[in-house]
Amino acid sequence: MERTLIILKPDAIQRSLCGQILGRFEAKGLKIVGMKFTVLPDETVKTHYEAHADKPFYGDLVGFMTSGPVVVLALEGNEAIQVCRNMMGATFGFKADPGTIRGDFGISSQFNLVHGSDSPEAAERELGLFFSAGELFDYSKGDDPLMA
Ligand code: RTP
Ligand code: MG
Repeated sequence: MERTLIILKPDAIQRSLCGQILGRFEAKGLKIVGMKFTVLPDETVKTHYEAHADKPFYGDLVGFMTSGPVVVLALEGNEAIQVCRNMMGATFGFKADPGTIRGDFGISSQFNLVHGSDSPEAAERELGLFFSAGELFDYSKGDDPLMA
């Protein structure tokens, strides 16, 4: 079992799409092991996206990600990192395939609804950045055997 860090970005909240997006992850079989609704501090977002610090869009990205509340999720399942990336689709909705979250719900070239860790290293780092140990939960669920 693998864990990944997902963020439902401010545009997902503004567009009332949180339930539908989270519902897709749940229906897929990913287990919620951490979840919080929060406005992200500037410093957290800067650290999260530090790999993009020299990109021209970095300032706008940090501004967008701190512009309003987000839902931060830790999801668990087989190959959770790649499964979630596949479900998200290409970075921007106007290019993302139909059937993906970004492909079905977005068309913007700036706002793309959802973040997902892109590697095991990123997932470990990001889970540690957004959650303390006591905010992640190991628990059994009735359908666990069917998701193994
Ligand atoms: P994310 O990290 O949010 O899951 O998105 P991603 O892997 O698909 O894309 P990435 O290349 O890591 O870019 C991070 C976020 O920066 C914004 N972005 N803007 N204006 C631009 O050309 C541009 N390129 C990227 C997006 O919000 C993207 O999700
Ligand atoms: Mg990325």
